[in-house]
Amino acid sequence: MGARRIGEGQTALVTGASGGIGLELARCFAKDGYNLVVVARSADTLVNVAADLAGECQVDAVAIACDLGRPDAGATLAAELDARGIAIDVLVNNAAYGMAGAFTVTDRQAQLGMVDLNMRALVELTHIYWSRLLAKNKGGVLNVASTGAFQPVPLMAVYCATNPDYSRGGVKLAADAA
Ligand SMILES: NC(=O)c1ccc[n+]([C@@H]2O[C@H](COP(=O)([O-])OP(=O)(O)OC[C@H]3O[C@@H](n4cnc5c(N)ncnc54)[C@H](OP(=O)(O)O)[C@@H]3O)[C@@H](O)[C@H]2O)c1
Repeated sequence: MGARRIGEGQTALVTGASGGIGLELARCFAKDGYNLVVVARSADTLVNVAADLAGECQVDAVAIACDLGRPDAGATLAAELDARGIAIDVLVNNAAYGMAGAFTVTDRQAQLGMVDLNMRALVELTHIYWSRLLAKNKGGVLNVASTGAFQPVPLMAVYCATNPDYSRGGVKLAADAA
């Protein structure tokens, strides 16, 4: 019999898990035995990701297609998970996008979309789950961000501004936990 894996009996919710860094983070958690909830907009891709990781790592994996850039998407997602009886132990806020270009000529909705996804959805999901994790005194939140958070980058002002500096965020969360 294999050794018990650290994540067994726990569930990690990974946003933006249909590809890129989110997919690899989901794989890391699954290898550690965590069951998965994978979230992104691409429903078909997500279903395949969930099936592949479940088979590869012998965990349960649920795919939920959701546009987290929409208002209240986080609350809607949490309500769906509650309805299915799925409790979250680790929240991975990974979904985000960036666009480059001169501020005044780039599409306004695309600029605002970064605010909605990179910041609003992250804050909403963290606000929902952080208090639940504190109540259990167990679990964690992993926020994926760019080093662009620490510096101004020409032509990517909004992307950099929507990547919070977690050296400060960490202090706030630690203070909450105290
Ligand atoms: N790549 C880099 O060089 C780099 C560097 C520093 C930091 N990061 C950070 O790493 C994270 C992941 O980046 P990545 O390069 O892996 O990105 P990526 O390859 O573009 O993947 C983004 C993921 O987010 C999902 N997503 C996009 N919009 C969404 C929405 N509205 N609602 C729900 N899901 C959405 C995408 O799936 P769908 O399209 O199916 O929705 C995809 O699964 C981001 O937070 C990014 O800021 C990346």
